[in-house]
Amino acid sequence: MVIEVVRIGQRLVRDDRVTTHVALVSRAFGAEKIYMTEVNPEIKDTLEKIKKTWGGNFVVEFIDKWKTIIKKKKEEGFKIVHLSMYGEIINGIQENLRKEKNLLIVVGAEKVPREIYELADYNIGVGSQPHSEISALAILLDRIQNGKQFEREFSDAKRKIIPTKNGKNVQVKETRD
Ligand SMILES: C[S@@+](CC[C@H](N)C(=O)[O-])C[C@H]1O[C@@H](n2cnc3c(N)ncnc32)[C@H](O)[C@@H]1O
Repeated sequence: MVIEVVRIGQRLVRDDRVTTHVALVSRAFGAEKIYMTEVNPEIKDTLEKIKKTWGGNFVVEFIDKWKTIIKKKKEEGFKIVHLSMYGEIINGIQENLRKEKNLLIVVGAEKVPREIYELADYNIGVGSQPHSEISALAILLDRIQNGKQFEREFSDAKRKIIPTKNGKNVQVKETRD
């Protein structure tokens, strides 16, 4: 299964930290790519630095129009999963999501356009209370992959954490640059 994420818009007061965290969660929880609209270019640099140190092939792509990417992905056979507190509760739907081949997950910032609800194959609520796109995304990715995302290896990592009961154990790979 290929999972990608699209982050729609930001708030009027710039929400760079939240958007960065949406990207970090996407990468760490097994998505392969994030598309973003209206963002600070520094977010891409932050994610590049993380990739250089911690490995993997996660891609950040800036886009002009969210609708273009949703339509393109639909044509490619991706199912569109829109995270919204108004959607159907995740508990009853996670099994169906696991059976899908490729998914594009849509997360909002401010009020999302009505059209997204109609373009989506699934409108999913992580509970029916307002909370955060970061938490909603993390829980959705975990429910879809059932924890398997944490067993993934990140290729070409300069640093790799060896999980330990106490303290910090980090394997550092020497490079010439
Ligand atoms: C701060 S919320 C804004 C919600 C906005 N009032 C609306 O009408 O969509 C930003 C994003 O977080 C996600 N989100 C927040 N609570 C959620 C929930 N309970 N379930 C799923 N997604 C949620 C949605 O993707 C939403 O677009």
